[in-house]
Amino acid sequence: MAVDVVAVVPAAGQGLRLGAAVPKAFVRLAGETLLRRSVELLIAAGGVSLVVVVVPAELVQEVADELGSAALVVCGGAERSDSVRAGLDAALAAAPDARYVLVHDAARALAPPQLVRDVLAALRAGAQAVVPVLPVADTIKTVDVDGLVTGTPERASLRAVQTPQGFHVDALRRAHAHDGAATDDAGLAERAGIPVHTVVGDPLAFKITTQLDLQLARALVEAG
Ligand code: CTP
Ligand code: MG
Repeated sequence: MAVDVVAVVPAAGQGLRLGAAVPKAFVRLAGETLLRRSVELLIAAGGVSLVVVVVPAELVQEVADELGSAALVVCGGAERSDSVRAGLDAALAAAPDARYVLVHDAARALAPPQLVRDVLAALRAGAQAVVPVLPVADTIKTVDVDGLVTGTPERASLRAVQTPQGFHVDALRRAHAHDGAATDDAGLAERAGIPVHTVVGDPLAFKITTQLDLQLARALVEAG
């Protein structure tokens, strides 16, 4: 069968803000790593034919042994965007005819499979790039280097952005053709002039960043 949808799971970060003894993607929730949970939710969504996980160099062999045929494993880079680029290259080498690519942070290990399906549906409906978003609860301010407030963007027009983010393969390739840092792939797509659509995100797709987030994730998993 032709591979229509590939997924890239960046998991090569160190997890400095979490401060665990292992890189963040290898922290366990009820015995299962964040990375494995993320791979499983992508597969559970249906329609994803190939998952490429991107991990720190020293863990490539171990993760490949653990995940077996569930995923391809490649080595990441210094910045998240370097890791995504490495994953995309590997995905397209293995599945050169893929049409859509999803990028999903290993750190968003509790994202529901329905969110993956919603992003894919928007791609199939014609969007070049799709991100799940939620309204923000806090008022957000911009500040200068001294911490002095420089502005208050109107909250009604602000959204917090999650993953999985979905792209036509060519759109993600173009987005990553220009170098430059961005905290998400859609940011690179915007700079390349690609229109980015939104779907309604899910609170469960929150990014596990700090110990407080990890405690919340543990409580949610325990509660089933
Ligand atoms: N990531 C990656 N390669 C990097 C940096 C980050 O693959 N060089 C991945 C992380 O593993 C994570 C996702 O990108 O799944 C989102 O990044 P973030 O939440 O910032 O994770 P870390 O960079 O690991 O955490 P921190 O910034 O606190 O060190
Ligand atoms: Mg980081």
